[in-house]
Parts: sequence; C-alpha cells; structure tokens
Amino acid sequence: MNPSASASPPTGTPYGTLPSASPLPQRKPVSLPRLHEMRERGEKITMLTAYDATFAAVADAAGVECILVGDSLGMVCQGLSSTVGVTLETMRYHTESVVRGLQRVQATAWVIGDLPFGSYHESKEQALRSAAELMRAGAHMVKLEGGGWTAETVRFLVERGIPVCAHLGLTPQTVHALGGYRVQGRGDASALQLKRQALELQDAGAAMLVLEMVPAVLSKEITEQLQTCHTIGIGAGKDTAGQVLVMHDMLGINLGKNPKFVRNFMEGQASVRDAMAAYVAAVKNGSFPDNSLHAW
Ligand code: KIV
Repeated sequence: MNPSASASPPTGTPYGTLPSASPLPQRKPVSLPRLHEMRERGEKITMLTAYDATFAAVADAAGVECILVGDSLGMVCQGLSSTVGVTLETMRYHTESVVRGLQRVQATAWVIGDLPFGSYHESKEQALRSAAELMRAGAHMVKLEGGGWTAETVRFLVERGIPVCAHLGLTPQTVHALGGYRVQGRGDASALQLKRQALELQDAGAAMLVLEMVPAVLSKEITEQLQTCHTIGIGAGKDTAGQVLVMHDMLGINLGKNPKFVRNFMEGQASVRDAMAAYVAAVKNGSFPDNSLHAW
C-alpha cells in the first residue's frame, strides 16, 4: 500500500489557503437554465471579473453567480494601457487559474472566458479554435466583442455547443476605432444600430450580452426586446438583467480615478468577501447601480 494514501491530508498551506470545501454547500451549480429562471422571476444576475484562484473562490463564496475572466486583466494585472495587447495564451492561463480555484472549493459559479483581440477576427474557424482553448481551460462560456460580422461567428460557436456572451456599446478592444472610452448609442441612428445588433446576436444564439457605457434608457429598451439573451450592464443603468464590474474597481484598488459607473464596495467593509457580498446584495435589491449617479 502506498503509505501516503493513508496519511491524513495537510491541515493548511503556507499561502493563499482555500477551504477544502465550499463554505456554501447548499448551492446548486449556476447553469444557463438557472440564469434564465433568475431572469424570469426578476432576480438580478451578478457578475464580477476575477483573474486568479483565490479571488475567484472568494467571489463565489460571496454569492457572485458569474465570474468573468475578462481581458481587462491586461490593464489591471499586466499594466497595459488597453486590452488590445492581451493574448489567447494569457487568457488560457488565467482561465485555468480561476477554474482551479473554484474547483478546490467546489464552487458553483458560471465561468466566462474572454476571447482577446485578434483571436476570433480572422475567421469562424479561428474563433472556434480560440474558444476551444478557453473551454478546455474550464470556461463554461466565451465572450466576444462587437456586432455586425460577429453574429455569424456567434452562430458558428453556438451551433458547435459553445455558449456565447456578446458585448456591445463600449467595446474596449476597439477603443482606438471608437476614439476613446466614450458612451455609445447616443443619438437615434446609433441607438437603432445597437438595438438591431442586439437582436441579431440573440438570433445567432448569444445567451448573454454585456452592454457597456450605454445610456440607461437604451439599455432598458434592449433588455426588454431580448427574451433568450440576458443583458449584463456595466455603466448601462439599473434595468439590465444583471450587472458586472471589474473586481479591482469595485474594491477601490486601482491607481487612477474610477469611472462614473463604479461604486467602491470596500468602503465600510472589513473584508474583500464582505465587499463582494455587499455588491451582490446591492445589485439584487436594486440599489446599485443608481441611475442618477452611475449611468448616462
Ligand atoms: O474584460 C472585461 O473585464 C470586460 C468587462 C468590463 C465587461 O469585458
């Protein structure tokens, strides 16, 4: 008999100790049908970004349903000035780290891996290869940015069994083409285009749609016109099906000025987990975002 097989497991590890089981054992894994049920009964969906094992496990323990391994990691982890320089290999590495952390605590969160700039633009086949990398790393869904031509790519991935989250409005991978980090969908023509693109993405099978920096009235209209694709807002007002924030922003640990749509949830809280739980509570009870403070 292998002597190590009967040895009792170590009681602790020197760094970043995670519990050996979920602190919330009653919860069921988050799935697309569960997210759909939440939307049906009017319960807001909560999402935060996370890029490593420990923060992902803490977010799950705080009750966050969806973890986005966003390419915003280029800015908050790698110090890049935009997300444009993030590679697929980097996204794979961080997705694996997040998934390992969640698995260690038998977490229930739904994991979304962000396809970085250039990893899905060449062809649908390239998009499939890139998406497969992130799915093999443990993601449950992939996210890609933009409307128009992306609808065909979304359909191609969804038909091959890969759940897709789309992303409209301020799409950071095209920040240079958009002329900066500006509110999108202002004016009738631009609003109409976003509404049309949202419908095309739903029709292509996207199950979620991030709406970033879009006027609150427009994101409400987009949310109401979509039945099977659930909107997740960031700087898009309170009437989306759910909300997402970049974790560093909501913990108040970035070095610059937070954008208008962010609230620092660390204020008044004793721990990161408490801050994340406060975010979950505020999104669920409708107190965040406040359209008079965090939206356009
Ligand atoms: O990369 C990211 O974190 C994102 C969110 C800002 C939605 O796309």
